[in-house]
Amino acid sequence: MKPDPTRGAQANNVVLSSPEAILRAVELLRRGQVVGLPTETVYGLAGNGLDPAALARIFEVKQRPLFDPLILHFADAAGAFALAEQVPAAARELAQRFWPGPLTLVLRKRETVPDLATSGLPNVALRVPAHPVAQAVLRAFGGPLAAPSANRFGRISPTDAQAVRTELGDAVPLILDGGPCAVGLESTVLLLSEHQPVLLRAGGIPLEEIEALAGPVRHATRVDDRPLAPGQLKHHYTPRKPLRLVRDIAEIPSQPDIGWLAFGTPNVPMPFLGVVENLSPAGDLREAAANFFRALRALDDDPRVGTLYAVPLPKLGLGLAINERLERAASD
Ligand code: TXA
Ligand code: MG
Repeated sequence: MKPDPTRGAQANNVVLSSPEAILRAVELLRRGQVVGLPTETVYGLAGNGLDPAALARIFEVKQRPLFDPLILHFADAAGAFALAEQVPAAARELAQRFWPGPLTLVLRKRETVPDLATSGLPNVALRVPAHPVAQAVLRAFGGPLAAPSANRFGRISPTDAQAVRTELGDAVPLILDGGPCAVGLESTVLLLSEHQPVLLRAGGIPLEEIEALAGPVRHATRVDDRPLAPGQLKHHYTPRKPLRLVRDIAEIPSQPDIGWLAFGTPNVPMPFLGVVENLSPAGDLREAAANFFRALRALDDDPRVGTLYAVPLPKLGLGLAINERLERAASD
């Protein structure tokens, strides 16, 4: 195989995070540019959340449709809530418990939030990330940063700096390398502007933990809540190769060109002849989440593999969020 010029050490827009690199990122952001940066969930493509030109640049670089709104990131809850029209008690309690961390709260927006950030919706998505590099950039920048996952629209989210490089190449002047993402799945997105909380996207905080604090959460369904959840598009996280989601491992063909996204130590009836990426041999859902996008990308990039197979994971904890992504990644 020919070496891929967008990968490897020669990629000069990937810079190991340091105080100097963070200052450089902030300088670029102040000038309305966009930069790649690590969060604990996935890498983000960050730009000034209050500058429509920077927001437009994010949509352009990601090739993202303008109807898919962005999450605004803040150093702390006080900053986040300052852009909400009202803050329900449940939002304060959830923030107290889970921020900084992989939770996004959708609240009624203040006038000052640009329409481009919310795709014209009356609500804004707010998050306080936990990753020390994201925190350092946000503190030095001193304002909100819009940051969608740093992949091209519809593609697999990046969980390390090289994956950002693979997705965006030279379209960004700087990608801060803060190591692999600890959570590995995007934040849980919760709408709180209604009477009962609505889950818009399962993610890094298990639903059980949210319900233990905020009570029963309604699930947004793709059909009736489409205007509320514009990001719940059918094709998301799509690998280039077909992915088949089957009910049982017995349905996975044992052939050299099959890539199997496995979980736990399943009972394989025969030696498997294909390529295996095991999300967590120990059957740990947090470990599986942290490995999910990297493993999906590895099979998608493996020249031996033609078709990907997976079986849904247990429907509890982070299994819900992983299954949601598997379903979107699966071909019809
Ligand atoms: O973990 C994360 O949330 C990552 C990191 C970088 O922070 N970001 C991320 O952003 O996943 P993105 O743009 O890939 O996904 C944001 C999703 C949208 O697709 C949409 O579903 C939801 O958040 N969202 C954002 N604003 C919304 C709004 N005003 N109303 C409803 N949903 C909204
Ligand atoms: Mg995304």
